[in-house]
Amino acid sequence: MRKKIIAANWKMNKTVGESMAFLDTFLLELGDERRVEVVIAPPFTALAKVSERLSASDRVKLAAQNMHWEKPGAFTGEISAEMLRELFVRYVILGHSERRTLFGETDETVNRKTRAALAASLRPILCVGETLEERDGGKVESVLERQLRLGLQGVSPEDMAELVVAYEPVWAIGTGRTASPAQAQEAHAFIRSQLASLGGKTVADKVRIQYGGSVKPGNAAELMSQPDIDGALVGGASLDARGFVEIVKNSN
Ligand code: PGA
Repeated sequence: MRKKIIAANWKMNKTVGESMAFLDTFLLELGDERRVEVVIAPPFTALAKVSERLSASDRVKLAAQNMHWEKPGAFTGEISAEMLRELFVRYVILGHSERRTLFGETDETVNRKTRAALAASLRPILCVGETLEERDGGKVESVLERQLRLGLQGVSPEDMAELVVAYEPVWAIGTGRTASPAQAQEAHAFIRSQLASLGGKTVADKVRIQYGGSVKPGNAAELMSQPDIDGALVGGASLDARGFVEIVKNSN
């Protein structure tokens, strides 16, 4: 049984003060929920304070939204794996479509980051997904195949088992337009089959595949009931503490 993993991707939102206010409400409302793994990815500036606050509880794990692949050095504006490890960050979101389309990330840089994260014992949340144009052109499978094959080049099957993959159809991110549970399931099953050909069936059966793209309290349960959907990566709807608790509770 794969434990569901629900992650909040706050993107470029929340000051330190706002992050603390979120946690006040969120931790209280979450109660002793342990059936689902809960992860929060605040912006870099709030990681230290959120980490401190979460250290009192083992219910919520910390993620970063990005990292650089190099060892510490002359890379102005970048953050290393070591810096994240010091703050007890466990997961790192890599290859998010906003990073790919707005900040020039490629399958190759995503691969470098994935390997560096794994080498530092950080667990990548590797984001893949097609644009609307690619979907309309019948290219969903070829895009996912390429992003996984290139993104995971040089990653051993043992390391692959540590991975979380997030399937985020670009046309569903922040648009209010969700993939139907059947559409998402089809893509997730394909992703799992690709993972099996890259790392073997045992590994593919272990990897959790999240769905992302306009997940809300009202659609989480139906998405999560699909056999290959093992969680969600939630953007907009994770900014509200009560709404995010509802998503977590509806996901089991
Ligand atoms: P959304 O974003 O939930 O706002 O659609 C999801 C994501 O980009 O991770």
